[in-house]
Amino acid sequence: MAETSVRELEAILLVGGQGTRLRPLTIGTPKPLLPTAGVPFLAHQLAQARAAGVRRIVFATSYRAEMFCEAFGDGSAFGLTLEYVTEETPLGTGGAIRNAAEALTCGPDAPVVVLNGDILSGHDIADQVARHVERGAALTLHLTEVEDPSRFGCVPTDDEGRVTAFLEKTPNPVTNRINAGCYVFTRSVIDTIPAGEVVSVERETFPGLIEAGALVLGYADASYWLDVGTPAAFVQGSRDLVLGRLPSPALPGPAGDLLALPGAVISPEAKVCEGTAVGARAAVHAGAKVTGSVLGDDCVVESEAIVADSVVGAGARVASGAVLRGAVVGDGAVVGPGNELLAGSRVWPGVVLPECAVRFSSDV
Ligand code: GTP
Repeated sequence: MAETSVRELEAILLVGGQGTRLRPLTIGTPKPLLPTAGVPFLAHQLAQARAAGVRRIVFATSYRAEMFCEAFGDGSAFGLTLEYVTEETPLGTGGAIRNAAEALTCGPDAPVVVLNGDILSGHDIADQVARHVERGAALTLHLTEVEDPSRFGCVPTDDEGRVTAFLEKTPNPVTNRINAGCYVFTRSVIDTIPAGEVVSVERETFPGLIEAGALVLGYADASYWLDVGTPAAFVQGSRDLVLGRLPSPALPGPAGDLLALPGAVISPEAKVCEGTAVGARAAVHAGAKVTGSVLGDDCVVESEAIVADSVVGAGARVASGAVLRGAVVGDGAVVGPGNELLAGSRVWPGVVLPECAVRFSSDV
């Protein structure tokens, strides 16, 4: 990891979104706090930011703001100083950055790291900051390559790495390189974003800076990268962390096929594997098979149930013989015997699905 000469590097963490694509998991818990490989999602980002030299982080909160301070307090457990700034009404990504910047302590020329609170990335943040400082850029965007760039901000660059356009969610992407959600701003550039207004960095600030001729750089690399905004991606992120595909200093145990939190009881006759995280005091009964999934605290997977690539919320119950594949079961819900929930199925918190009288044959 590159050394940066910046002392007391500061960051802003964007965590005010409602996480609508992850409902019902985000009804009670904001996306950045969802248990992921045994700890709140943000714990992985905080540990990585600390390792990259960040020492002080301002959380830009809005949705369920109070829960962030309850989870992370003053940050001393991470060797960080944490501050919390709340928008009464969400100000969008740009408005949130401008608002949170009021709590920064650095001067106008200092680099400030801005992180989206729903990205898992193995890229070298310290090196991104170092390149930004070396080249005297206004803004340096982390870029990654994806197969389908149409769902993201598409970011072409020239031979020197200078960003030539920022095309948010365009149907005709000109490159597979996309905005990977980690930015380094020179502090004075943040101060040019209008205060107290709803502003999108993706739709307004970035295109505006490029248009005005500011030096906007791309920091492209091919390290691990995942936007955990959808249920399938969220499950994949947890699985990859448990398996060690993305090393995380915050993983509460050794990487491997299975991560079980204290008090979890897994029958020796159950099969739990492929990066499954099992929450505290959760139970998996004999004959059940759980693969690549996230099991919440105190949930129960009964005998002969199959849970694959799914999320089972805290205190939920998957009854004997039920099958989940790519499903999301909210906290305290019950999936009765014989139900088969396939990809995209979502059971709201507390809902009870009664025993399913019609059984499907897996041969059909
Ligand atoms: P969806 O509703 O599922 O799209 O998720 P989201 O609400 O998280 O939106 P999105 O994925 O586009 O947001 C990217 C990042 O910016 C996330 O870390 C959000 O928490 C954050 N974010 C989005 N809008 C706001 C806002 O108005 N204020 C703040 N503080 N953060 C925001």
